[in-house]
Amino acid sequence: MSGAAIEIVRAKGKNAEGEEEAPVVVGRAVYEHPFVVRLCHWINTVALFVMVGSGLQIFRAFPSFGAKIPQKDLLHWPRAFAIGGWLGGALQWHLTFMWIYIATGLFYLGYQVFSGNYRQVLFTHRDIPGVWPMVKHYFFFGPKPPVQEAYNPLQKQAYTTAIGLGVLSVVTGLAVWKPVQFSWLAWMMGGFHYARIWHFAVMWAILFFVLGHLVMVVLHGWGNFVSMVTGWKKDPEY
Ligand code: HEM
Repeated sequence: MSGAAIEIVRAKGKNAEGEEEAPVVVGRAVYEHPFVVRLCHWINTVALFVMVGSGLQIFRAFPSFGAKIPQKDLLHWPRAFAIGGWLGGALQWHLTFMWIYIATGLFYLGYQVFSGNYRQVLFTHRDIPGVWPMVKHYFFFGPKPPVQEAYNPLQKQAYTTAIGLGVLSVVTGLAVWKPVQFSWLAWMMGGFHYARIWHFAVMWAILFFVLGHLVMVVLHGWGNFVSMVTGWKKDPEY
């Protein structure tokens, strides 16, 4: 039932003079986010937090890429921003939440495909002409393009990329986790060492998306955030 719209009406009542007032339409609300999407979104947010934190703790055990000896550390990630305490603990967190992350991702993708709701999120060639007007509006003070869909073309592009990155994080992770069983995967990525680099790079790309995502959520205000909790968005705006 995504796309349903209702009018928000101030109920009939009495004014300051005690006279009867007719009901007034004070706004409009659109049901934009189905329950499954909201559920998966928030579970994924928690799972991703743990995956990144524990992943960085695992990385701390060997903070370099390539040959083990001689080892040159790439960066010293602070312990305070890592989860698990040590390599063994971090692996437990990572491999436990991995299942939650994968299950949520599959459930979300399955739901989107079978419900047809993917049309709201998937960036296609039809969205290309709408990208530049949105970029002009967001970054160069251009006029605001009229609201036509739940997500504007730039949003669709960002979400489709984020979902693609989610899939890549799992595929590269499988190659790093089971390089013998999934040797063909590791081979496709240029070998185990490259699979590690891909996995690491995909994490930073996801974090980059999340940063931009949070900036947009803050800029678009409370109603936008509430819509990802209740499903309903009041007076949708880009
Ligand atoms: C605290 C962190 C987060 C907040 C506050 C947040 C908030 C939101 C909000 C408000 C929307 C709806 C935007 C709209 O209606 O225009 C949304 C959609 C979305 N968010 Fe987030 N988000 C967070 C974390 C994440 C993370 C970690 C990811 C994935 C890496 C993510 C991926 C998405 C995607 C793919 C959508 C579109 C979902 C769909 O319609 O299928 N979000 N988010």
